[in-house]
Amino acid sequence: MALLKAHPSSGPCLAVLACTSLLTLIGLAGRQGRAGCAEHVRKFLEWPTLRAIHEVRAACTDDGDALAASSDLRSAPWCVNDPDARAWAARYAELRGVNLGGWLLMERWLVGGNAYVNTTCCGRVESPYNGTACSTATSELTLTIELRARGELSKIDVFRDAYVTQGDFALLRARGVNSVRLPIGYWIVDPAVLPRDVGFHQGAGLRHVDDAVRWAGASGLSVVLELHGAPGGQSGAQTTGSQDHAWTPSSFNASASVEILRTLAQRYAAAQNVIALGLVNEPELPVDTLLPFYEKAIRAIREHMPASRVAVVINLFSERGLLAIATDAWRVFNVQLTPARGFANIIFDLHIYYAFLPQQLADTSLATVTGTLVWVQSLLTQVTGRPVFVGEWSLRLPGWGTAVGDEFGALTPSAQNATLQRFATNQIRGISRAARSDVQPRLGGAFWSWNAPVLSAVRGPGCVSGEQAQWGYNVSLNRGWIVPSQWSAPSHVAERDTDSDTEAETETH
Ligand SMILES: *[C@@H]1O[C@H](CO)[C@@H](O)[C@H](O)[C@H]1NC(C)=O
Ligand SMILES: *[C@@H]1O[C@H](CO)[C@@H](O)[C@H](O)[C@H]1NC(C)=O
Ligand SMILES: *[C@@H]1O[C@H](CO)[C@@H](O)[C@H](O)[C@H]1NC(C)=O
Ligand SMILES: *[C@@H]1O[C@H](CO)[C@@H](O)[C@H](O)[C@H]1NC(C)=O
Ligand SMILES: *[C@@H]1O[C@H](CO)[C@@H](O)[C@H](O)[C@H]1NC(C)=O
Repeated sequence: MALLKAHPSSGPCLAVLACTSLLTLIGLAGRQGRAGCAEHVRKFLEWPTLRAIHEVRAACTDDGDALAASSDLRSAPWCVNDPDARAWAARYAELRGVNLGGWLLMERWLVGGNAYVNTTCCGRVESPYNGTACSTATSELTLTIELRARGELSKIDVFRDAYVTQGDFALLRARGVNSVRLPIGYWIVDPAVLPRDVGFHQGAGLRHVDDAVRWAGASGLSVVLELHGAPGGQSGAQTTGSQDHAWTPSSFNASASVEILRTLAQRYAAAQNVIALGLVNEPELPVDTLLPFYEKAIRAIREHMPASRVAVVINLFSERGLLAIATDAWRVFNVQLTPARGFANIIFDLHIYYAFLPQQLADTSLATVTGTLVWVQSLLTQVTGRPVFVGEWSLRLPGWGTAVGDEFGALTPSAQNATLQRFATNQIRGISRAARSDVQPRLGGAFWSWNAPVLSAVRGPGCVSGEQAQWGYNVSLNRGWIVPSQWSAPSHVAERDTDSDTEAETETH
């Protein structure tokens, strides 16, 4: 099939809200007249303060209409008209997803904050981090090295077999979820891609991914596969599996990463419920590294997974947190011929968290963060010029020592409860498909994560402590913070997805 599609370099955006919004922001924000909403959004992106939030709130209407209102905003070179992405998005009900984080990449804060983890199959299960000093086993890599030296690598296998099981998929579906995002460390796929790699433990490796895809399918769930830890690391953060303060972008091994993605694409090409493949999670890599990597990776994936069936996901990320959207990454991807504009069915993934706000926002107020800021950030999901889903979100708020964290901590348990309920409602509304943006819709998202970290009994550097339940979808439901009917949607697998358009059209969303 033809991989490259011709796109006029400045073709009409077909009244796409996202595109017109973007043009407004970048091109016309300084002009006279209707600039109100756009101008304030631009100011917010440059320097997000309390005042900027309120100005956006006052200047913009609820679904960003003010951004889209004007008819001379119809052509933006960075607005990508991607018919395959639109067709893909139309075929599936909105993603009401949950991440299976911590499983095939054991992030210390998620699974090692205590001696045990909570599981569905077996209740409390010993954490593989149990008994390691937090200061040495800071990540899966250092943990693995320590366990190998003690002859206890099997602890990792035991953990993987218990942390996520078939019963979890059934429970996920019973709790309204229609999709799982599955973060994978490269060593699960192939530990030998790096010649000198003696660190990570593959164990049963891809058998776990096979299980996940099959179990998900049996429960009516789709799967978004995602490379969470890339060979050489896409950053020095423990979320890659290796916390390394000496990491530099030159450590990232693009060719090995492409091979991992190729293997995944080939292996799951026939799995109808694998609907998207994410290239790399939260890369702290320069654009001139990312662009050629993305291009090669997309070509490799498309040898096996056609654009008509599987979306390729690019995670827009910035260490500056909510300002991911303000980096020029999206602009580069959309405008340059390669990779994004030149390829079909590319969607963007934004991670929208409130736990890691810049100081000036963490020191506003609880109502501002859980209300107005959520509204402002969800407006931003419409300005990338492509379909967007929020691959990670949670109910975690800024911590102690911030004005917002202290205000929350001072509330009674039932007032905290009510605050988190409102916070959840607002976030869900913000990332859900809006009626009028159905050409490049918001695609929904995935909560981070299914199993919450349990309360820490362990103190020390690298150890989490305090209440962590707001990171867990399951426990957020159990405690009434998320109402099941809010985050529930039709099954993806029941919406059989390849055979014919007619079949797709008979589905109700
Ligand atoms: C999710 O909650 C249900 C209901 O309380 C419980 O049975 C199950 O073990 C929990 N699973 C996880 C992973 O927390
Ligand atoms: C953690 O390790 C200690 C020491 O080996 C052991 O006594 C304890 O039972 C373990 N905790 C769990 C939850 O298995
Ligand atoms: C990247 O990985 C490949 C194996 O897939 C290896 O041949 C190559 O040497 C690695 N490159 C670097 C810079 O480590
Ligand atoms: C939180 O809300 C849920 C659902 O409304 C309720 O069942 C639970 O008792 C509340 N907890 C507290 C501490 O108020
Ligand atoms: C862990 O499981 C215990 C026992 O079922 C439960 O009381 C607790 O709320 C769970 N914690 C989290 C964070 O899921």
